[in-house]
Amino acid sequence: MVRALLAPDGRRDPYPLYARLHRLGAAGPLDPALGYDVVVAGYAAADRVLRDTTFRMLDAEHLDRGGTRWRSHPSLKTLQDSIFFTNGPDHARVRRLFGQAFTARRMSALQPAIVRLTDRLLDRLAAAGSPADFLTEFALPLPSDVIGELLGVPDEDRPWFPPRVRTFGAILEIGRRSMREVLAADKAAVELTEYFAGLLARRRAEPRDDLVSVLAGMGDQLTDTELLANLITLFNAGFVTTTHLLGNGLVLLLADRSRGADPGAFVEEVLRFEPPVHFGVRYAAADAEIDGVPVAKGSTVLVLMGAANRDPARFPDPDRFDPTRPDNQHLAFSAGPHYCLGAALSRLEGQLAFPRLLSRFPDLAIAGEPGVRNQLMLRGYASLPVTVTARVS
Ligand code: HEM
Repeated sequence: MVRALLAPDGRRDPYPLYARLHRLGAAGPLDPALGYDVVVAGYAAADRVLRDTTFRMLDAEHLDRGGTRWRSHPSLKTLQDSIFFTNGPDHARVRRLFGQAFTARRMSALQPAIVRLTDRLLDRLAAAGSPADFLTEFALPLPSDVIGELLGVPDEDRPWFPPRVRTFGAILEIGRRSMREVLAADKAAVELTEYFAGLLARRRAEPRDDLVSVLAGMGDQLTDTELLANLITLFNAGFVTTTHLLGNGLVLLLADRSRGADPGAFVEEVLRFEPPVHFGVRYAAADAEIDGVPVAKGSTVLVLMGAANRDPARFPDPDRFDPTRPDNQHLAFSAGPHYCLGAALSRLEGQLAFPRLLSRFPDLAIAGEPGVRNQLMLRGYASLPVTVTARVS
């Protein structure tokens, strides 16, 4: 079943496979040739594993057991130096420092900028004519502009980021990555590191009211390697994920019954039903057990948050999109120590963008077949043609 999930057809439509996994149980052993030793699909089991610190992110210590060649790849080194792939006290320290970017105060201070950037892109969408690609004109630039705003990347530099960030992010996809992908990601990582090193030097010389200046002033609480790796991965984590929240959400929004939904509840149901991130991976730091399945120390665990969000034991009628669903605590942002730092920011972007899209373009419609979705990490449409007719005021 998981073999099918890793194949292109399974990635295109994983939901029937998730339903079959649920019938088999919450967790199960895998053929290690697949790259993972255990799979977890049940909601309660996934939630437990994500919160249990016995199950750790694949950190440098874990990778080194398979050899140290990965260290010569700037892309892999950058990822491993970031909070994504660290554990324990180092992770907690860096997460606390970067967490300052996402306080409720900073989020509400950012709201007018998000509205301004959204409206600017609605103008761009109107100007693109019909049909326009919703992803190119709106869903890709919006999150990139917003993180740029948060970090303090100058407006004129922002269009430079999307292609590099996407190339860098491609190595996070499920299964094995090709050397060609890793080398392309290496080049992107080097360019992004150089860019942020330059920005950091400028902000150290002349601080401003932005996150890079705040982080630059933290002295020895954060090494430059940690700082640069986390600036890059922050961009990566917050960019294409939110793009797909917007793209996946738009298709669901335009289905008639969603138009009148409460924006907050609608965004939550999009995240449950069509999450941009379907899985996380952990390794067992000690012998353990997940729902009766033994997990030997050092084994890797594939946690399918996308399947957990469709677990019938947790969500009644899980394959029905229902923005009025009560108690909708999905796992789209994970759980436990690595719970998404940008959850509040991406929710805010979705809650502001969807109503503004509908009020600006009441006749907004899908204009053709969306480009296929065939990834489980950063899952979303490759393209999304829409027709826009602006309201005449
Ligand atoms: C809809 C949009 C988003 C989704 C679905 C999403 C999903 C996730 C998930 C699933 C994880 C944890 C992975 C795991 O446990 O294995 C995560 C972590 C993270 N996310 Fe997000 N994310 C989104 C938006 C953002 C944004 C906008 C930012 C920042 C600008 C961001 C920053 C981060 C960071 C820094 C982490 C690592 C936290 C840690 O390891 O302690 N994310 N995200």
